[in-house]
Amino acid sequence: MMNENKTRELMDVLLPENPEEARKVLHDYDILMMRYDSAIREVRTKLQILNDELSLTQQSPISTISSRRKKTFSILEKLERQGFPITLESIEKNLHDVAGIRVICSFLDDIYNVADMLKRQDDLKVVQIKDYIKNPKANGYRSYHMIVEVPVFFSNEKHAMRVEVQIRTVAMDFWATLEHQIKYKQDIPNQDAIIEELKQCADTISRTDERMMSIREKARI
Ligand code: GTP
Ligand code: MG
Repeated sequence: MMNENKTRELMDVLLPENPEEARKVLHDYDILMMRYDSAIREVRTKLQILNDELSLTQQSPISTISSRRKKTFSILEKLERQGFPITLESIEKNLHDVAGIRVICSFLDDIYNVADMLKRQDDLKVVQIKDYIKNPKANGYRSYHMIVEVPVFFSNEKHAMRVEVQIRTVAMDFWATLEHQIKYKQDIPNQDAIIEELKQCADTISRTDERMMSIREKARI
């Protein structure tokens, strides 16, 4: 409950003083979030269809798909932190990770296959790509990030919604989960040594991902 006051403070900025107008903004917020939820379903379905099709002729390229929609507090806090206006229009314009999907693959090459297949779908617009596998972060973080825009059809209109897709191997995900927990923990003893050891693990994982892929190729699986 540490965030309660801060949440209220940010909500005060978002909502007009007039209760009638405030209700209108809250309603529009619900509509916007419903659109993001729908966009997540659209992209998840696309990924599932690709996986279903490929599974008929090869080992499934995708091992799991997970998704989340950013919580209200995180949305408002991120706008404030990045110095953007705290309005509904600003959420759509400035945040690209309100809708997030994580795709976990067994093998490195599956990541690029899945990404390429998504890119070829002509109703999807690729807004941004960050390849942290070819260019890992200094801490060792690896993953393939895509921001895509997907059209979602509603009763009277169609909306292009942005979705962040993170594609990574099982091993990269294992690493990122621990690193994320460590990053948000306050009082860690020997922090520098832990960061260094994590970096080494990331490099070991990267070599192992390469070797696993090459074993599969040699075995012609
Ligand atoms: P934000 O970090 O979300 O503000 O976006 P950005 O524009 O910097 O994009 P980036 O692609 O760098 O990161 C987007 C998301 O990737 C993050 O929200 C995390 O989920 C994940 N991510 C990026 N870097 C790291 C990292 O060093 N460690 C872990 N565990 N996750 C990361
Ligand atoms: Mg970042």
